[in-house]
Amino acid sequence: MEKRDPKLEQQLLQALNGARIGKPCYAFREVSSTMDVAQRLASESAPEGACVWAERQVSGRGREGRLWVSPQGGIYCSLILRPTRSVGELPQLALVTGLATVEAIQQLTGLSAAIRWPNDVLVAGKKVAGILAEASTQPTAGRTQISVVVGIGINVTTEPSDLPEGAASLAQWAKPVPDRVVFAGALFRQFERVYQQWTDEGFTAIRPALIRWSGLFGKLVHIRTPSGRFDGQATDLDEAGRLLVRLDSGLVRAFDVGDVTLLR
Ligand code: BTN
Repeated sequence: MEKRDPKLEQQLLQALNGARIGKPCYAFREVSSTMDVAQRLASESAPEGACVWAERQVSGRGREGRLWVSPQGGIYCSLILRPTRSVGELPQLALVTGLATVEAIQQLTGLSAAIRWPNDVLVAGKKVAGILAEASTQPTAGRTQISVVVGIGINVTTEPSDLPEGAASLAQWAKPVPDRVVFAGALFRQFERVYQQWTDEGFTAIRPALIRWSGLFGKLVHIRTPSGRFDGQATDLDEAGRLLVRLDSGLVRAFDVGDVTLLR
């Protein structure tokens, strides 16, 4: 097992300022991927809210098997959740996390970030953060328990030359640049608030805020899905968090997965 960093864990716990999400905290200088460590802890009954944090990842992963470049200067964390809502609602957790992330960015930097449905956060059209949600099941006391690990990667001071095309770091705009530990405290508190709303009232409680932060509506988009590629105008988010797109044929289609590119 990778070596934990007790000093960093202490700093992160202090930054939580009483929040329930973010503890217990497992912080490392370097791991393969915080997702792997969090999945292992989830299978060993780690409680809801547990956080795995790394200063660097050797094999950080993004969606669809992509690599997530993870040198020093970014936030790399995974949270273990044990949601009580139905299995069909669990994909909404990426949107819950995206909302918490844009609100933390706004709170700490004043920058107006936008959510690119379903998993990306953009500033000035460039990707500054990505979210990955992975569900798994554990047999516990005769019944199956579901856990979801949400991974959040945020480029804070990462050198732009280390990042892939289309990505950027908050430091390119944020003056002063927020300290990553302070950022974590704000992020986890925002997460706790949005997650609680979603747990208590479901997606409808967070939909208006997501619509406000969405950078897609009214824009022409290309969407790549397992069932094909589509072009059209993004119009809305439905009551389940699906993206509604008016296709060039005039038909409005609801997407529950997909990779979106803005056409202009
Ligand atoms: C994406 O945009 O494709 C999702 C990127 C998710 C990256 C984060 S960094 C922390 C956690 N650990 C990983 O290996 N991936 C996620």
